[in-house]
Amino acid sequence: MASSTTITVEVDDVSYTDDVEPRLLLVQYLRERLGKTGTLIGCDTTNCGACTVHLDGVSVKSCTMFAVQADGHRVTTIEGLAEDGKLAPLQQAFHECHALQCGYCTPGMIMQSASLLAENPHPSEQEIRDGLEGNLCRCTGYQNIVAAVRSVADGTVSSNAGEAETAGVA
Ligand code: FES
Ligand code: FES
Repeated sequence: MASSTTITVEVDDVSYTDDVEPRLLLVQYLRERLGKTGTLIGCDTTNCGACTVHLDGVSVKSCTMFAVQADGHRVTTIEGLAEDGKLAPLQQAFHECHALQCGYCTPGMIMQSASLLAENPHPSEQEIRDGLEGNLCRCTGYQNIVAAVRSVADGTVSSNAGEAETAGVA
């Protein structure tokens, strides 16, 4: 049996200390240990972006990291994006712009979009497309996803955000 390592990670503003096997992926830790099932696994091979979270505010694909590498760091998942019971603007924008169909890519898309907008609050359409190129969507054709990100950048998303209980599926 593999030896375990104790890690302490802040996830969605809550500190967790756990013993984990060195080979446990961060996405597995989030989903299986912490129950953060809004972070999805689409490929497990760094291709699809469904597992995107923020590590110290920067987007990472959580299937590409071991949980032990998050020791001492701050992780934000889709479930930590809403504030005060309200959908975050990007979550609201995806809803308003019909930027999802099956929704499988959506948590990762939103987390990557949040990172993109943090770096560049007013991206061009091409910059949005470039910023999301590591996140795959098999349903939407991307047009409405780009429109959703643009609506947040342009400030045209409704400020009357809905309840956060749908945050995990946006
Ligand atoms: S599950 Fe991580 S990139 Fe697809
Ligand atoms: S909405 Fe189905 S994969 Fe994007």
